[in-house]
Amino acid sequence: MSTTLWWASEEFWRKTAVWVTAFMAVVLIFLTFDSVKKITAGSQRVPAYTVINQRIYYRWNAERGMQEPVIGDEAPLFGQKLDADAAWALVDKGKLTIQARNCMNCHTLLGNGAYYAPDLTKAWLDPAWAAEPVRETLMLQFLLDPETNARGFGSNRKMPNLHLTEDEARGIIAYLKWMSAIDTNGFPRNFKPIAQPGD
Ligand code: HEC
Repeated sequence: MSTTLWWASEEFWRKTAVWVTAFMAVVLIFLTFDSVKKITAGSQRVPAYTVINQRIYYRWNAERGMQEPVIGDEAPLFGQKLDADAAWALVDKGKLTIQARNCMNCHTLLGNGAYYAPDLTKAWLDPAWAAEPVRETLMLQFLLDPETNARGFGSNRKMPNLHLTEDEARGIIAYLKWMSAIDTNGFPRNFKPIAQPGD
């Protein structure tokens, strides 16, 4: 009769595999709920949609070694302060338009998409939009007719006219403004936001 050492037995390793898989499944479920909590709008890193009523800018955080978003004073988008429902509706319109028009075919948003055209994650703070007070107007003009209103975003390419409606374009701008307020741990890496007094 052969005596197999416990650590060399098939039985032992089969049981170990079953228990480790079951334990890791529980850990995965826990982490999934934890991630969803952290990425839901209204959490610490991902602000509520009403952030579009406020000024968003970036400050260098020496401790973290990265730019981080700062939510400043009141600065309603298109001069119109929106309540929580209206802000959600506008941002949602932008998100659905971006999905329906497949902007990710050329652009990247929060790490998803292509690099044919500039990363849109922080496009709201791109210095190419010039002075802050005219930014939303210039963005609207650009989105409605990107061929004639190109501003030189460094890609040396032109964006085609996607024939967006004005409502869709306003939604997109709200979505981009909200997205720029998300603390993305310094992503995208080489991003240089609109300069602030004292920079
Ligand atoms: C066929 C590729 C393509 C598609 C699709 C496309 N874009 Fe663009 N987009 C570009 C290019 C190229 C530029 C850079 C234009 C320039 O430098 O003048 C650009 C620039 C932009 C900018 C300015 C970027 C910045 O740094 O501020 C915004 C905002 C933008 N696009 C939004 C959108 C949205 C929203 C959609 C979907 C509705 C979209 N784009 C779809 C190619 C595309």
